[in-house]
Amino acid sequence: MKKWYAVIGDPIEQSMSPAMHDEWFQENGIDASYLPIHVKADHLENAIESLKRLGCSGWNVTVPHKSAIIPFIDKLDESARRMNAVNTVKVLEDGTLYGTNTDGRGFVRSLQEIGCVSGKIDEVLIIGAGGAANGISFALEAAGFGPLSFTNRTVDKAQQLAANFKDGAALSLSDAESSISKFGLIVQTTSVGMNFAQSGMPMNPNGIADGTVVSDIIYNPLETEFLRTARDSGGNIINGIGMFVHQGALAFELWTGVYPDTKKMITSISTKLGGN
Ligand code: ATR
Repeated sequence: MKKWYAVIGDPIEQSMSPAMHDEWFQENGIDASYLPIHVKADHLENAIESLKRLGCSGWNVTVPHKSAIIPFIDKLDESARRMNAVNTVKVLEDGTLYGTNTDGRGFVRSLQEIGCVSGKIDEVLIIGAGGAANGISFALEAAGFGPLSFTNRTVDKAQQLAANFKDGAALSLSDAESSISKFGLIVQTTSVGMNFAQSGMPMNPNGIADGTVVSDIIYNPLETEFLRTARDSGGNIINGIGMFVHQGALAFELWTGVYPDTKKMITSISTKLGGN
């Protein structure tokens, strides 16, 4: 029987996941489809019951349900537990729900795809101390990156996050700026620079060492002011499309056993969003 998958969120119209997964199903000859489903916060429990009853095989979870869905998951994996957030659900054969979070691992895969691997990088700077920073830093540590330093507008939160890591350090934004040249990898995880959120930069990456890998998890715009400044300062920049595509690819692999073509998808989404 034809399988079906979904993404639930509010809002959901803007999601690029349905087009991405449908293209991968076609490319891999898998008879399945993927639907965007608009679920408001107070309908979450009913929506999950309905998805199960209607035979959905698995779904992605986006804002605002990533943490709220946890009480309804039967088996939560380590990544979801540490991040206190689920972005991928698989319905197991006995009908129970398995929840994981592929965001952090997706980020690491996107780095590895451009040749940025742990052995080549020493010091890492994470900008931000929210949910995204949390998931990415645990995945970076698991992949052997480190030591990790954290900087954030609210330094207390950077300190709390840093305390979870061996050799983790917390810096004020101005201290991070003045020591920026020692980092081989810099990861921008805040919403600063996102279209319709806030313009500007959380800190100035001017002064990075030549060839430093500078990543921004934002992909709309394709190049934030932060990335543009880092590129002008000699950085090797990477936007958030790679993370988005690889988090989806890891979900696709969990559901189908196949890791799909990510390079082609990154190019196709960049083109759609106005890049080359
Ligand atoms: P997410 O799950 O996307 O990481 P979050 O948990 O709300 O979202 O975290 C948002 C992050 O962006 C935080 O690090 C936040 O800094 P504070 O801890 O000081 O709030 C950061 N952030 C948001 N708006 C910012 C701004 N205008 N300037 C600097 N940092 C900002």
